[in-house]
Amino acid sequence: MSKSDEKIPIDSVLLLPDGKGINKAYIDIILQEEIPVLCINQNNKKKKLISFKVLCDNNENFWQQSGSWKYFLSSEDFGKIKEKSAVKTGDWELERPKKTAAANKEKKAEKGYGDELEKFAEMSVEDKANHLAFDKSQLDMLLSKTGDDKAVAEALVNSTKDAALINHLVFEEALHVIDEEAKKLTQSIVDNTHEMVKSSVQLMSEEFLNNNLMNTLVEKSNGTIVQHMTRVFLNGVAFLSYFNNLVSTSSAIQKLRISFVDKYRKFYHSLLPGFPADNIILERVFMGGMRAIPPDMLNKWSVGFLIHDIGKASAVEYHEGEATYDRDIVIEHVKLGYKSVMSKTNYPIEASLITGYHHEYYGDPSGYGYFRAYLKQFKKQNPEAKQEYCITYDVNPIMDFKALAYFPAKVLEIIDVYDSVTDPNRVYHDAMTPKEALVMMREEFIEKHHKLDAILFDIFADFISEKQKALK
Ligand SMILES: [Fe+2]
Ligand SMILES: [Fe+2]
Repeated sequence: MSKSDEKIPIDSVLLLPDGKGINKAYIDIILQEEIPVLCINQNNKKKKLISFKVLCDNNENFWQQSGSWKYFLSSEDFGKIKEKSAVKTGDWELERPKKTAAANKEKKAEKGYGDELEKFAEMSVEDKANHLAFDKSQLDMLLSKTGDDKAVAEALVNSTKDAALINHLVFEEALHVIDEEAKKLTQSIVDNTHEMVKSSVQLMSEEFLNNNLMNTLVEKSNGTIVQHMTRVFLNGVAFLSYFNNLVSTSSAIQKLRISFVDKYRKFYHSLLPGFPADNIILERVFMGGMRAIPPDMLNKWSVGFLIHDIGKASAVEYHEGEATYDRDIVIEHVKLGYKSVMSKTNYPIEASLITGYHHEYYGDPSGYGYFRAYLKQFKKQNPEAKQEYCITYDVNPIMDFKALAYFPAKVLEIIDVYDSVTDPNRVYHDAMTPKEALVMMREEFIEKHHKLDAILFDIFADFISEKQKALK
């Protein structure tokens, strides 16, 4: 036994032969971190400290084979693995890719923003703005025609993709100049993006977006970040339009009110423990009551959906690469996004809040973002003050800490997680089917942890199920 073997404590954790206690996510971390395994021969008590990876290369399931050797991890390492895994499962969006040589090779051929970025990189800001105006005119032309699903989906995907790429490029430029200059530089892009988004929202409120068609078109672009941004925007807008129809044309709110006590009270009481249980009613969940989103608000929120991950600009290499999971870099995309939308552009405040608050998870430790940081500060200064509502539609109550969450950010969290687990490009895990994704999200993000919003999630699940039915 070498000297280093002695460092392994006696209370080491056994890697059970049936795989209990050790799952796939743990193994990926063990491999990434190059964690060693203590091998003990049960016959002669001989010990060896060997890298898990070396053993794995030799036999993929070595610890599950019966034989004279048993395998152990130190308690300290096991704790580290568990902690890393918890952080990772809390952030599906940015999980590291699984290492398989073939998949990695394929992956390397792609860049976060794809080949099309070059085309726009060569254009002046004015030309970029004109391009967005052209995209908008294409959308407007389709507004008067009806029935051509393919043309509508194509125009929506193209304009969203273009806007995501153009915004990314102009933001990168804007980061290098002082705020005042940056605002001037980005103004024509801000205006044209806003106009293009308005037309998309209008078009989508009239057409039922065929998801399969949309996904096929999105995949034509080979940048994974731009694909994510395109799908999230289009699904987000489609969901808000579904939400508006639901709350304005059916007895949905009445139904919710009837089922509230049995189905939701416990969930929301855990978020607002300072109130007696019978005070937890639908009007306390949605400040001002659940209602349709007015058009101007809808447009501003949709702009926020489109640029929500704009902060990934500074670390594309990381977000698309194979580096070990780094929570600081992951958090950085929210910080950078929020700050740059706020200070380098004249995008509405709604859009910057969405960028900065889209991973809050109702304060769950696996989430992150600006809201929790500001709330902590506020609580320190106002120890008596308490949040009276779960969700607000409006900017002021979220800025004044009257509510725990901002409506569009809670919607975006759901769309974001759903997109990431159903994303066909993730090589870290196989893409889930819509049904699998909804089951997993309910279990992990609603029942086990109160991260997503329970009512909004149920509406989202109906939205996805109806889309699926429409495809059959
Ligand atoms: Fe994000
Ligand atoms: Fe995202």
